[in-house]
Amino acid sequence: MDRRLFTQLLTLGAGVPGLGHAADQKQEAVAGPRTDKPAGDDATRSGGGSAGQEPVNVEDVTALAKEALPRATFDYISTGSADEITLRENIAAFRRIRVLPPLLKGVSKVDLSTTVLKQRISLPIMLAPVAAQRMYHPQGALAVARAAVAAGTVFGVSSSATNSVEEIAAASRGPKWFQLYVPKDRAVTRQLVQRVERTGFKAIIVTVDLGEWKDADRRNRFALPKEMLVKHLRDVGFDQVSNKMSYQEVFAFNERAWDISLSWEFFEWLRSITKLPLLIKGVLRQQDAEKAVSLGLDGIVVSNHGGRRLDGMPASIDRLSDIVEVVGDRAEVYMDGGVRRGTDVLKALALGARAVLIGRPYAWGLAANGEAGVRKVIELLREETLNAMLTSGCAKVADIERSLIMT
Ligand SMILES: Cc1cc2nc3c(=O)[nH]c(=O)nc-3n(C[C@H](O)[C@H](O)[C@H](O)COP(=O)(O)O)c2cc1C
Repeated sequence: MDRRLFTQLLTLGAGVPGLGHAADQKQEAVAGPRTDKPAGDDATRSGGGSAGQEPVNVEDVTALAKEALPRATFDYISTGSADEITLRENIAAFRRIRVLPPLLKGVSKVDLSTTVLKQRISLPIMLAPVAAQRMYHPQGALAVARAAVAAGTVFGVSSSATNSVEEIAAASRGPKWFQLYVPKDRAVTRQLVQRVERTGFKAIIVTVDLGEWKDADRRNRFALPKEMLVKHLRDVGFDQVSNKMSYQEVFAFNERAWDISLSWEFFEWLRSITKLPLLIKGVLRQQDAEKAVSLGLDGIVVSNHGGRRLDGMPASIDRLSDIVEVVGDRAEVYMDGGVRRGTDVLKALALGARAVLIGRPYAWGLAANGEAGVRKVIELLREETLNAMLTSGCAKVADIERSLIMT
């Protein structure tokens, strides 16, 4: 955005030509008409909130997702573990941080692009791995993959995305990282990693925070339909699973299939079978960050899994500085959890994150309007981040410094 557009923003308020609305029209054209829309989709197309207006922020998109989805699916995306202390804290901690922008920096243009693992992305926001995406929209991860490449960012593909890596790679040639949940059977793990390499993924994220305990899901008895669970397990490489099995049998197989007792040795094994950059996701303690870099991992995602794991863990943003301090420039540090505004992106970068990841915001966008919905969420956050940088005198991502944050 240049100074002229910024001036328009000052004088006209929202709706700057070339930002929101023109971009939306383009998105709709790219997305094309949808024939497979879930209930509530018409409300989405005609506008945001539930009052027929265009969504102007992530919260508006949340309301649209709520209208579009069955209650249990919306709850699956939106809720957190147990009393949701961590879920709330992720948001509250961002809100507690105050920004102190310097004046008169003479900045009239902002470049939002940056690099992650040497990959240039158009903004410092990536899409976090999110499971069960075909439950939110028939196009699921395929729509997300297309939205990510159109927006110029990385898609972190969940092991449980409910599409295979081949299907997702065919949907988009954009940069993708694969998030690994580890099958107990290391032959299956090895083959999966080889397929991830073959299909052009650029990195592997190993998620190590486990222990989801969500009351809403148990109350709603939320579960993948049998067809989806079977396909998911077969996509991972469990060829012995089939639709001939009963739901109970497939469910029991799933319960046994995954390694939930990983230790640091796993990374040594993984390093021995792949040359792809490796990241660890779920780090909150300095000691764990130190161990990760000492093993030569390339990136660390400071994360509490969006408050979906052990309740009572601190906000990711509150752990970021400590992790950045021990890691230094030995690995790249990212964070996720509670990013809902461009100012959150600014705060996270000021506290040392190379980029942030978003989970729920784009899952809600997907539910609300498929590929166009995901793009809308990214564009809203892009505009907000751009505005936050411009008003803080930051012409480029590298200008976002710790001194912007009041201590
Ligand atoms: C519906 C949902 C499913 C998720 N599934 C996964 C997953 O399969 N693998 C993973 O590493 N993280 C998963 N996450 C966690 C996200 O990657 C990310 O850490 C979290 O959503 C960030 O918080 P936010 O939702 O506040 O942005 C999931 C999150 C949500 C909301």
